[in-house]
Amino acid sequence: MEVSEILEGSEKIIPKIRRLDQSVVNRIAAGEVVQRPVSAVKELVENSLDAGSTSISVVVKDGGMKLIQVTDNGHGIRFDDLPILCERHTTSKLSTYEDLQTVKSMGFRGEALASMTYVGHVTVTTITEGRLHGYRVSYRDGVMEHDPKPCAAVKGTQITVENLFYNMLARKKSLQNSNDDYTKIVDLISRFAIHNIHVSFSCRKHGANRADVHTIAACTKFDSIRSVFGVSVSHDILEITASDDNPDRSVFKLNGFVSNANYIAKKTTMVLFINDRLVECTALKRAIEVVYSATLPKASKPFIYMTIQLPHEHVDVNIHPTKREVSFLNQENIISTIQNAVETKLMNSNSILSKEIAVNSQSSGQKTPKVPVNKMVRTDSKDPAGRLHSYWQDKHASQDDKRSELSCVRVAVRQRRNPKKSADLTSLHELLNEIDQNTHSSLLDIVKNCTYVGMADDIFALIQHDTRLYLVNVVNVSEELMYQQVLRRFAHFNAIQLSDPAPIHELIMMALSEENAECEDVESEDFNKIAEMNTELLKQKAELLQEYFGIDIDQKGFLLKLPVILDQYTPNMDRVPEFMLTLGNDVEWDDEKKCFQTISAAIGNFYAMQPPILPNPSGDGAQFYKNTEAPDNRQNKDTDANMIDDISEKNGTTDQKMVSEAETEWAQREWTIQHVLIPSMRLFFKPPIFMAGNGTFVQVASLEKLYKIFERC
Ligand SMILES: Nc1ncnc2c1ncn2[C@@H]1O[C@H](COP(=O)(O)OP(=O)(O)O)[C@@H](O)[C@H]1O
Ligand SMILES: [Mg+2]
Repeated sequence: MEVSEILEGSEKIIPKIRRLDQSVVNRIAAGEVVQRPVSAVKELVENSLDAGSTSISVVVKDGGMKLIQVTDNGHGIRFDDLPILCERHTTSKLSTYEDLQTVKSMGFRGEALASMTYVGHVTVTTITEGRLHGYRVSYRDGVMEHDPKPCAAVKGTQITVENLFYNMLARKKSLQNSNDDYTKIVDLISRFAIHNIHVSFSCRKHGANRADVHTIAACTKFDSIRSVFGVSVSHDILEITASDDNPDRSVFKLNGFVSNANYIAKKTTMVLFINDRLVECTALKRAIEVVYSATLPKASKPFIYMTIQLPHEHVDVNIHPTKREVSFLNQENIISTIQNAVETKLMNSNSILSKEIAVNSQSSGQKTPKVPVNKMVRTDSKDPAGRLHSYWQDKHASQDDKRSELSCVRVAVRQRRNPKKSADLTSLHELLNEIDQNTHSSLLDIVKNCTYVGMADDIFALIQHDTRLYLVNVVNVSEELMYQQVLRRFAHFNAIQLSDPAPIHELIMMALSEENAECEDVESEDFNKIAEMNTELLKQKAELLQEYFGIDIDQKGFLLKLPVILDQYTPNMDRVPEFMLTLGNDVEWDDEKKCFQTISAAIGNFYAMQPPILPNPSGDGAQFYKNTEAPDNRQNKDTDANMIDDISEKNGTTDQKMVSEAETEWAQREWTIQHVLIPSMRLFFKPPIFMAGNGTFVQVASLEKLYKIFERC
């Protein structure tokens, strides 16, 4: 075969590179900037804000597919600029690349208007100050369709976009549900409205008399939240601030509002402005959701409005054409400071408490009649229920307080009718105070600001704090953390439903025979009696266990539900028998404070992150799997090392199934430690003083010293 023939053949297979037609390039790029009607609205409103408007109104037809019209009273567009207004990369906001570092306007890429002309029909009417009349001009594919026509106009600019995606059939079809986008547009304008309080906004459907968003300029942020998101939201929000000014860690200022415990929603609303840009930050959103789900009883999703000011040079605004996400310096540190601020706010808000009471009164299943305040039954201040009242009540009689006062009285009345439930929660308060008072401050600093390095062995995790490395006993820490979280979530647990109800009598029998496996002289008749008594006792205490600790036991003596203490964590069910026995034997039921304390401790012990029963196959435990003959012995955690050696010598095969089961369990445990325990520890753990001296935290190295050693090598 000739060489030229070979070349010809292969050229047929290899696709030829061509330069795309500019109109194709533009249309592709436009599809990215204007993804759907709401993105066009966002760009137009941002332009109006950049033009210094104090009034912006939006009219939408067919969810924006037929018409989007944004009218503002900003500085307008010069007549001379009209010919290039809609060309790609024409802007008045940026001239050199370096300007990007300091750009304060929302736009800077000069792409939005151009993009709209490639996917819709754009008409601009504008007038600048001092002119007698304005101009109107329409654009298609980046250029004017005709010379600007003089017309009557009021101050500012009006831009209409019609027939969006007329030339992109697939996009048009996929966006046919126009109502969907109208909702998104209303939501968008609401967000702009609560942040830009010096601008009045309105948003309505074409032809409708009533606006769906309507705000008046110069109100407070709180007022604008109330008028946009409703009275119910504004009732249940707390003002929040946070800041940091340490260049080694982070520099920022935050203020805003977050919902309190009374706020109920299925979805998180997060309105975030960074340096006055409406952006999204998934990491921050998740981090705040974690705080809510861990702090609040029923894990309602929060409402968050935050504005963060960062040094301009710390923010990269140019990571996407839609400018929806930004990236910023020291993101992790900033997020964790914000998390702490939100947590503190929630913890200190007495609304959490009024919520607890309100939930209690609902859970009784009774409808509480509306009693006028002046006719309410007042409780005696010496009455335990009265103490409960004074504990929850704040001194300033605001609207919120009145509501919680009402709930308190309802609960108090209910408790009198139903003496079994009359818990005086002062004891809970005392236990929580004890946790605070017993906190070791340097350990607290370590746990709050540490990063996870990895597992050092089956029990110890390695964490880094500043330049130091520490070993942390995860069993001890998780046990204590669970104990603290039980008290914090008191009476408000989500449930882990057991797949099958578990008979308590049998569970306790199991625990007893395991505990006494060595003593042969114990009669099984005795076990039976103990199990019977304990089951009866737990049945009697079922109401308290259920209401305050989320441990659900039915009257037939079956365990049905356990509480969620940390989200995404389920305790090892092999330890339920031991837990039931501890509840039956070790709880001090008579003294309320001791009762709460011992139950919480029992739960803490049960939920502690013990290593799995199967030895770790990737460590020394590998030996254990080198036999297939005596599976029963393998269940024994304290397997004698000699016995393992014996068996493995006799029979060198490895039990693969069991190895993979063990591998999964160990991998899951490590995942949980890294993603559940350590983050929760950073957020919520108050390390008790005794942990400084009992080997729970051990400093193993300081990086400075290590570097010195390496330098010598
Ligand atoms: N509503 C408006 N009022 C005044 N000028 C506007 C308005 N909308 C657009 N402009 C002008 O048109 C230019 C191009 O807008 P756009 O395509 O959104 O790019 P960018 O906002 O990135 O500069 C802006 O830089 C601005 O000068
Ligand atoms: Mg713009």
